[in-house]
Amino acid sequence: MNRREFLTTTLAAGTTATATSAAAAESRTVKIVGISCSPRKGKTTAAALRICLEAAQAVDSRVTTELIELAGRNVGVFDPADPKATQGGFADLIPLLSDPSVGGIIVGTPVYFGNMTSLCKAFLDHCMAFRQQKFALSGKVGGVVAVGAGRNGGQELTLRSVQAALLCQEMIVVGDGQPTAHFGATLVNDGKDSIASDEFGISTAKNLGRRVAEVALKLARTGS
Ligand SMILES: Cc1cc2nc3c(=O)[nH]c(=O)nc-3n(C[C@H](O)[C@H](O)[C@H](O)COP(=O)(O)O)c2cc1C
Repeated sequence: MNRREFLTTTLAAGTTATATSAAAAESRTVKIVGISCSPRKGKTTAAALRICLEAAQAVDSRVTTELIELAGRNVGVFDPADPKATQGGFADLIPLLSDPSVGGIIVGTPVYFGNMTSLCKAFLDHCMAFRQQKFALSGKVGGVVAVGAGRNGGQELTLRSVQAALLCQEMIVVGDGQPTAHFGATLVNDGKDSIASDEFGISTAKNLGRRVAEVALKLARTGS
């Protein structure tokens, strides 16, 4: 084989390999997981996350979703001396969330006295396990939902507190996409455990779910 034949064959093989890996990246499914950190199962935080996940799924047929509720999973206060002792059902989430098919995680929490619930903080502290597993959440997209009983009950502060912990995992934090385009989803419980009448809040939840899915798909395409 002369030099020209060698170069032609090698370049053709390279082009085929690139096309094959691009096609593989293009067909890869991307899972978006919602984590409800309300101590109450199936209430407003779970409802808000369902809206996010439906919007995420509507972006593309390659997007799959799963809602996980921490209520009843017995996740206790993180003890650095013995993290496993208080892990409870968090143990099941370690393989689930670190799986490479998970492209995005949306954390939802009720607002308790202007911030996240203690269950949400316990979850985020237990996420130390991911940092210790070579930053297993690194590069995954992160979004946050906060539901309060007041319109200005501390939702934005809560979003920013949760986002700080996601940044410490090297996650790619995004807010609600256009046209609302701020810090994430902010919803109001009408006092009867419903968010159905909060049109603006619902739009932030939809825009967050869509944005998380769009960015996760983009990253999957680049093979990140
Ligand atoms: C201990 C406690 C503190 C709360 N503090 C706030 C608050 O500071 N601001 C607010 O808007 N709502 C506050 N709420 C209301 C909840 O955030 C609201 O009812 C939320 O929808 C509950 O979420 P869930 O339905 O998923 O449990 C508080 C509720 C509880 C139980």
